[in-house]
Amino acid sequence: MEVPDGTNVLEAALSNDVPLEHFCYHRYLPVAGNCRTCMVEIEGPKGAMLTIGCNTKVAEGMVIHTDTPKAKAAQKNALEMLLLDHPLDCPICDKAGECKLQNQYMEYGLYDFRRGVPRYFKGGKDEDIGEHVILDQERCVLCTRCIRFVDELPKTSELGIVNRGHESKITIFPGARLDNAYSGNVTDICPVGALTLKEFRFKQRVWFLKKTESVCPGCARGCNITVEHNRGRVYRFMPRESAELNKTWICDEGRFSFNYYQENRVEEVRVGSSPKTLKEGMEQLAGILSGLDKEEVAAIASPWASLEDNFILKKLFEKKFNVKNLVAPLWAKKGDTDHLLKLAEKYPNEQGLNLLGIPTDSKDFWDKMEKGAFKAVIVMSQNPFGQDEGRARKTYGKVKTLVVLSAHKTKTVEQASLVFPARPFTEKSGTFVNATSRLQRFRQAIEPENPDIVESSLGLCRLAKVLMVEGFEFEDTPSIFNAMAKEVEVLKGLTFHSIPPTGKVLDLNPIAPEPFQGVKAQPNVLGKAKA
Ligand code: SF4
Ligand code: SF4
Ligand code: FES
Repeated sequence: MEVPDGTNVLEAALSNDVPLEHFCYHRYLPVAGNCRTCMVEIEGPKGAMLTIGCNTKVAEGMVIHTDTPKAKAAQKNALEMLLLDHPLDCPICDKAGECKLQNQYMEYGLYDFRRGVPRYFKGGKDEDIGEHVILDQERCVLCTRCIRFVDELPKTSELGIVNRGHESKITIFPGARLDNAYSGNVTDICPVGALTLKEFRFKQRVWFLKKTESVCPGCARGCNITVEHNRGRVYRFMPRESAELNKTWICDEGRFSFNYYQENRVEEVRVGSSPKTLKEGMEQLAGILSGLDKEEVAAIASPWASLEDNFILKKLFEKKFNVKNLVAPLWAKKGDTDHLLKLAEKYPNEQGLNLLGIPTDSKDFWDKMEKGAFKAVIVMSQNPFGQDEGRARKTYGKVKTLVVLSAHKTKTVEQASLVFPARPFTEKSGTFVNATSRLQRFRQAIEPENPDIVESSLGLCRLAKVLMVEGFEFEDTPSIFNAMAKEVEVLKGLTFHSIPPTGKVLDLNPIAPEPFQGVKAQPNVLGKAKA
């Protein structure tokens, strides 16, 4: 077989569908070669020699055996060593179901227990080592993945191994805490249940979780994630591999935002203080808007909303009102940024606004708003003031009919005369364009119980129908995307379902640098080794 120059034996095997187990190896971390489970036999002048596959580069003419009796025995022995002092904890271990050690034992081990001496107890159950992470010391198999991660990525080096021989153990340095901005990743890559997350431990067995492909909307980076849920509740966000974007990492801020999307929700349509059905609310809104001059109606689109939501709002203003009365301000407070993933810009879709030509600021718009020129304003997915009541009142003070489409209760919602509950990204499908111009698709994970909670784009389509505006006969997000792709030059030729799982870079100027500045690229990325 042929592989690119520099490929290691393990990746060469896996990329050609030759099974070869591995444990300490992680393709986005430097090679440590300490677990010895990836043993192979390589033919040489003195006969076949045993060596580890993850730290051996392939060479021209090399003959490698992965399944000779000698190689198999070496792999099995390495696994037996790993399990020597490991507690028989699987039934009460939170990693069960996604533990590499458990899986390997079932696939490759299945040996009779041979230890004649008592198990060495390393101690340390439930050690609180950071804001999010718990260490169960006795489960650690010293693979050093977590150490390599904190050394190489956040470069915070909080973790290390102390002592020698069978007394070796993982620990944090005295006085230190595992509190870097990416600490949750160590629990993903810990191949056993030694490092687990406080936010997820004992909340759900992993085999009950359904996984939906999505994109983190926590900042303009748009890391690939899976939304993991069961019975209408999201239990965690996990990184989804994208070799081009976030590799297998996400930041803690994004990871632990999953509760935000299911709390403090707008639950029903409201007109004034009365609850209404969606149909009643839309009819009432259409009645108000029909009585106004088109110059008296304005809208605030959103860098948090999907391309589809913003596209439909813009289209409605083009056809029925004045599209110049549409703006999508970038009002959120800037956050932290770093050399890895996090961006200060807290919007998932600022580039989507640029692509659709929706202005992010307009003096004329705000002058008119201040003078009371707008009698009705539709605000979509914007929470520009957080809970800053004063600023919200000042901005919307002169608007007679404030209409809000929002998933969350905000000060803007409190001031609104018509409120329509919207779906957060976990409850809808759509697309965002990230800061480096990557068009990415997210999929619906949860279906809300109330059928009146609809996607903003589809809600606006209903409004258009009541207003008898043609061209809004869309039933779902994919058909909106496909219609948009026919109109918007940089999307030409794309369909919703043809967008690759890790997205597609569009011909737009990036608004942020690529991630992982100053991090050495790992050479062995062919894409088949288990992360
Ligand atoms: S805590 Fe987990 S990742 Fe870290 S060395 Fe132990 S087994 Fe490996
Ligand atoms: S870097 Fe941004 S997009 Fe990525 S996980 Fe964090 S908040 Fe989400
Ligand atoms: S030594 Fe190769 S995977 Fe651990």
